[in-house]
Amino acid sequence: MTDTYVAAIDQGTTSSRCIIFDRDGAIVAVDQREHRQIFPRPGWVEHDATEIWSKVQAVVAGALAAAGLRADQLSAVGITNQRETTVLWDRTTGKPVHNAIVWQDTRTAELCAALGGADGQDRFRDRTGLPLASYFAGPKVAWLLEHVPGLRQRAANGEIAFGTVDSWLVWNLTGGTDGGVHVTDVTNASRTMLMNLETLEWDQSVLDAMDIPAAVLPGIRSSCEVYGRATGQLAGVPVAAALGDQQAAVFGQTCYAVGDAKNTYGTGSFLLLNTGNRPVPSANGLITTLGYRLGGDAPVYCLEGSIAITGALVQWFRDQLGIIGEAAEIEDLAAGVDDNGGAYIVPAFSGLFAPYWRSDARGVITGLTRYVTKAHLARAVLEATSWQTREVVDAMYQDSGVRLTSLRVDGGMTANGLLMQHQADVLGVPVTRPVVSETTCLGAAYAAGLATGVWSDLDELRTQWRRDAEWTPRMSEEEREREYHNWHKAVQRSLGWYE
Ligand code: G3P
Repeated sequence: MTDTYVAAIDQGTTSSRCIIFDRDGAIVAVDQREHRQIFPRPGWVEHDATEIWSKVQAVVAGALAAAGLRADQLSAVGITNQRETTVLWDRTTGKPVHNAIVWQDTRTAELCAALGGADGQDRFRDRTGLPLASYFAGPKVAWLLEHVPGLRQRAANGEIAFGTVDSWLVWNLTGGTDGGVHVTDVTNASRTMLMNLETLEWDQSVLDAMDIPAAVLPGIRSSCEVYGRATGQLAGVPVAAALGDQQAAVFGQTCYAVGDAKNTYGTGSFLLLNTGNRPVPSANGLITTLGYRLGGDAPVYCLEGSIAITGALVQWFRDQLGIIGEAAEIEDLAAGVDDNGGAYIVPAFSGLFAPYWRSDARGVITGLTRYVTKAHLARAVLEATSWQTREVVDAMYQDSGVRLTSLRVDGGMTANGLLMQHQADVLGVPVTRPVVSETTCLGAAYAAGLATGVWSDLDELRTQWRRDAEWTPRMSEEEREREYHNWHKAVQRSLGWYE
């Protein structure tokens, strides 16, 4: 084992993790803890930001203990996080003024429609790269300012700080009420719908339209620089990177060249394609987002296909239908049959994200006959993930002209070989998984280590990427097109269901 270590904190939708890596990018220790999911009403999803901060502190302590290391043996700590989730807190007390509103929360759907007005969903797309959808942070801030009594005045007075989860963690790590640094990085800022993609500054015209005072906003910094030194249990360690989790996975997968793409399979799936130093606008339902920015270097942009529900469909199959006891059992169940038996499941549980952006879509199961068994449904559950991915890959080709030659994958569902084979089959290109599948944490660690000299450049990081498994397409063109046609018919039935 080498004696240089970098820690990554991954604050995700369902849990927080801390992973300590050595200089070879190998995992030395991991600790992970879940936090509460709060559902005050149908469609609303909240987290307690104070609980999140305590869980983060606990996993940092757990990982250090498991590694047998002291904080002063860490060269740097990097942060990666669930994106868009919105925290507002009191700068003096350090207390959140409301539960965090989570990215999946749909309470701002009507507000977004009203903001669009006659211009519609794409009113701010030219400046921010995003359609007006409840997914993004800006409208969540506007909702909180409107609904928490007295908050608008306190915000205007400079008493309130806004942040996505990266900001909340950096502020707390660097001292909180005792001198905490209030910043965000370009990747997280690009998910607020408040940052201008060209200038990488807050866009006054959007702030005005949403009635959000500039006084609440963090400073926008690069993804890879020392924001400050940690206090508390990590005292003195440079806090040296922040990236949204999907962008961190891009970085950990070493997708540094134009045309490199990765797909991360978690609660949802997020496919990002590196498009280089200029933002590429989407005309096909993708979003334009920051990939990363290393210090003062030119920013790197991505096109992203955001899919809200993939792994969460397996959880639903397990928890709500009770057909399996453990998520991993779905692979054996699905392997018991040769095909889906004619059944398709479109998991539009909170509408459909890319490439449709339809909040009026709801989940459907189509093609049912008495022939269909739970094994066929298990297949349909897995296939829903690969077909949704195929749709965003098609949109990427239409937007960028870049045809994928292979796809790098990571995340929990990549342990499912049946799904990965189907993914390769429906894309018609090889699907490749790296040895270190914790690419989100690895990306945050890489960025923090680059900022502090642990690694010298991107070429050095590239040499650390190793292939673990690859799936190559086996499905005939005819079968692929027939199945894709059926998938589209099922999607059509989900659109407009919620009135
Ligand atoms: O945009 C939402 C995404 O960042 C959430 O990722 O892995 O926490 O579900 P995850």
